[in-house]
Amino acid sequence: LHVSLPLFGQETFNYDEGKVGEYTLPSLLTSNSGDIVTNEKEWKQRRAEILQLFQENVYGKCPGKPKHIHFEIKKINKNALAGKAISKQVRIFFTKGNKGPYMDVLLYLPSHTSKPVPVFVGLNFKGNQSVNTDSTILLSEKQPELSKYTKKNDPMIRGNQSERWEVETLIENGFATATAYYGDLELDYPEGWQSGIRTSLQTELGIKPDEWGAIGAWAWGLSRITDYLETDKQVNPKKIIVHGHSRLGKAALWAGANDTRFAAVISNNSGEGGAALARRWFGETTNRINTNFPHWFIGQYKTFNNNVQNLPVDQHMLLALIAPRPLYVASATEDLWADPKGEFLSAKNAEPAYTLFGKKGLENTEMPPPDTSIGKTIRYHIRTGKHNILLFDWLQYMVFVSSNLK
Ligand code: GCU
Repeated sequence: LHVSLPLFGQETFNYDEGKVGEYTLPSLLTSNSGDIVTNEKEWKQRRAEILQLFQENVYGKCPGKPKHIHFEIKKINKNALAGKAISKQVRIFFTKGNKGPYMDVLLYLPSHTSKPVPVFVGLNFKGNQSVNTDSTILLSEKQPELSKYTKKNDPMIRGNQSERWEVETLIENGFATATAYYGDLELDYPEGWQSGIRTSLQTELGIKPDEWGAIGAWAWGLSRITDYLETDKQVNPKKIIVHGHSRLGKAALWAGANDTRFAAVISNNSGEGGAALARRWFGETTNRINTNFPHWFIGQYKTFNNNVQNLPVDQHMLLALIAPRPLYVASATEDLWADPKGEFLSAKNAEPAYTLFGKKGLENTEMPPPDTSIGKTIRYHIRTGKHNILLFDWLQYMVFVSSNLK
């Protein structure tokens, strides 16, 4: 989960900048018919084209809100986190009735605020009980990730991912935070779709399981959390920030691209199939990701395994779909598998879309030194250390959100 998988040796992968070679990115601002996009209005059309290209070639279709979605408040704790927070646990039902399928959302709100607050929304890897030791968190009802690599369930340990979830820090700084277990949507292994929403909701949503992938299903779930948040008076619906680490960072970017209710988007170490350029031969490749994780993307993406240069998109175009909304891309120095430079260059090459709106992007053309955040509406840093999301990252994200979402 957190580093590249031991089963697949990395010897054949390139970690040598000198061997990256030449590549040409598809033009962001040239429409399918060859016209150059020069203003916001023309971008609107180009944006729709790009979104469609990603749907057809990479992530698959993105269904909308189900007709019968409804919410059940399971538990409210007015005295959570030693009185600093109010917690709400909400079950989101995707169809009529209360048999399921559903996802369980854990929301923390700062207790001492008079007005609606901004909220960070992201999925978690190990169940809601993993994000904090708070004993009032309901245990995830789905089996924690059943991995094809370990063939066993992870024990449900409270707070075992708390290093990654700065709940208290967010609350103390006036932010709410909402999360749900990604396995509520689809368990993360090649056959996971059979017990997930791609199967159970196919009639309801009018989409076949192979018309989207696991990343699409997770991204869709992020939008459903937003459906709930929009109904919660304590949340500011104009300040819903989507974030995700690694494979869930890929999902966050895809959610942000499809759903403009997300006012800002944060990609933490999302790498291949996320922020990193596909055409740069460094770290994980399209071929590796499609082989190791055949369930993440649609079948069409695999047709580019050995000729990524023919892919009609590259990931800078995904980032550009977030424009003009604030976008943060973060890497880590030891996370070469995710290709930090490819993530930086992707953010850099998304800038022209922001310029159309008069927004400033990264500005710098060179990667910043470690632990230095650069840019305005697009921001970037490379944290010292491993593939992870840590306090340093969260501190940057809070400043970024406060300065960009006034
Ligand atoms: C693997 C995978 C990456 C992914 C990461 C994660 O390393 O190759 O694409 O981002 O797992 O989700 O932690």
